[in-house]
Amino acid sequence: MSIEATSAAAEISDDVLAPVSEWWLSGTPLEAEHQRLMRRRSVPIPWEASTASQLTADERRRLAETWTRRASAEYLAVSTFSVLAIDLVSAAAPADVLSLCLRAGIDEVRHAELCLRMVEIYGERRIAPPPGMSSLPDDKTRPRLHQAIANTMLVSCVAETYATTVLTATRDITIDPAAHAVLTSIYSDEVMHARLGWSYLRYAIELGGQGAIDAAAAMVPVALRGVANVIERERPIGEITQRVRDHGLMTAAEERVVFSEFVREVAVPGFEALGIPCGSAVEDYGPAWAEAA
Ligand SMILES: [Fe+2]
Ligand SMILES: [Fe+2]
Repeated sequence: MSIEATSAAAEISDDVLAPVSEWWLSGTPLEAEHQRLMRRRSVPIPWEASTASQLTADERRRLAETWTRRASAEYLAVSTFSVLAIDLVSAAAPADVLSLCLRAGIDEVRHAELCLRMVEIYGERRIAPPPGMSSLPDDKTRPRLHQAIANTMLVSCVAETYATTVLTATRDITIDPAAHAVLTSIYSDEVMHARLGWSYLRYAIELGGQGAIDAAAAMVPVALRGVANVIERERPIGEITQRVRDHGLMTAAEERVVFSEFVREVAVPGFEALGIPCGSAVEDYGPAWAEAA
């Protein structure tokens, strides 16, 4: 690398290493190493290009509320991957599965930071994520492989894979440059969080045979219901105007359609390709459910 290129890289790196939500840091020397961990793979976000100032107070409130919910979901996902890592370790999962699962937890810290910054941009207030701990099912009586399969399906094959689908659809309607960059940055990590689960599932089925397939099949309706519950939950108050949409917000009705398509075109074909029967999943989340909002 030439000297110019080296100094250009250093400039970019200084920029990239600026804290995204500094109020959520410890104020100790850990911060510098944290910045290196957090920015390792990310592209800088054009925060100054945000068009939030052109919105009405109601529109900003609606977006701040949504990003607050997103921050708390991302924060919760940190503990989700920690618990999944414990399940995978106790099932003697291979090294690449373990390292990617632990890295996913780190990615979720970064996602939470990005969301907090968005809350500041729209709500003009600095918050920390509300405390919360993920509660994944834990059945001590069953084989550890089956426990690992169950939670991999819940977390990665369904929740994270759906996240990639809904982020793609949301990004497609987003015009605001800062919101678009944040959604893109989160999306690029969620793709790997989804791939982690599908890869482990294939590995675990080859290892565990019919017993593993049965454990996976039992989890299909549970995992899909978990995401459906989140989609069916009531939304923050406030109209989703065209300008709110431009900042990356879909209606509840649109999200139902996205989930219905996800079940039919992504989740069920993926599970069936691995030999996992999906029962009535496609009908359960068919047009009647999609249009019920
Ligand atoms: Fe995330
Ligand atoms: Fe994720």
